[in-house]
Amino acid sequence: MSARILDGKETARAIRGELAGRVAAVRDRLGRPPGLTAVLVGDDPASGIYVKNKEKAAGAAGIAGEVRRLPGSTSEAELLDVVDALNADPKVDGILVQLPLPKGIDPDRVIDRILPAKDVDGFHPENVGLLAIGRPRFASCTPLGVVELLRRHGVEVRGARAVVLGRSNIVGKPMAMLLLQKGSVGDATVTVCHSASRDIPAIVREADLLVAAVGRPGFVRGDWIKPGAVVVDVGIHRREDGSLCGDVVFEEASEVASWITPVPGGVGPMTIAMLLSNTVAAAERAGG
Ligand code: GUN
Repeated sequence: MSARILDGKETARAIRGELAGRVAAVRDRLGRPPGLTAVLVGDDPASGIYVKNKEKAAGAAGIAGEVRRLPGSTSEAELLDVVDALNADPKVDGILVQLPLPKGIDPDRVIDRILPAKDVDGFHPENVGLLAIGRPRFASCTPLGVVELLRRHGVEVRGARAVVLGRSNIVGKPMAMLLLQKGSVGDATVTVCHSASRDIPAIVREADLLVAAVGRPGFVRGDWIKPGAVVVDVGIHRREDGSLCGDVVFEEASEVASWITPVPGGVGPMTIAMLLSNTVAAAERAGG
């Protein structure tokens, strides 16, 4: 192993520490803490764990975190009513509807209904559009966590050839847009690969920075990595033996890369830290 570790756990801890002062300032000015409400529809076990982790992290940061649990039988109209009520609630600064939603509910209609100023997930078309034109307000938490992790480790992205594997609305596309932003953490030359891309290993071999978000365990092999490249692994999968792994074969890639994220302890903790950061920013804009 020659690569240095991009330590998401420690970095997220530092960010949470920094948020404490801003949370206190919101409390002073608004007379209440920043508020984050997560809406969980149905009983998908993975979503249940994610939402619980978000609730715990919010509480630890002094944010009033609440989870609205709705049955899997909830209709789209009922869910839209819940979103409307949260939009109108002055104590709620951030709203997050956990995805995926049960069949029969159109996620686009639900996301479109969230007030853009409370859309701390950064999924609303208005926020996606602002990011696309270089005026970011709320960006999706996982890609935002990736750029913050790189910035805090002093990894230079400017002018680098960045390859993003995956084109999802939650990770791949906003990741590409963030890396493309002018200045600070952006200014990369960005290529996005997806399921129809030809010869992905050849494209990855050109990458100074690789962000893997394909959702396939061990998809990226060590001999795809350019020596000295920076490797960020967004994937998280459970192996049959119960251990966790990412989209990249860590043991191989870490022999070649200069920096690499571990799984777990890399991108995951950063996602939650960015959700808290977006929530505090929403509360600050709300007058706090
Ligand atoms: N499902 C998977 N990732 C996310 C996320 O970042 N936010 C929400 N709301 N749902 C998700």
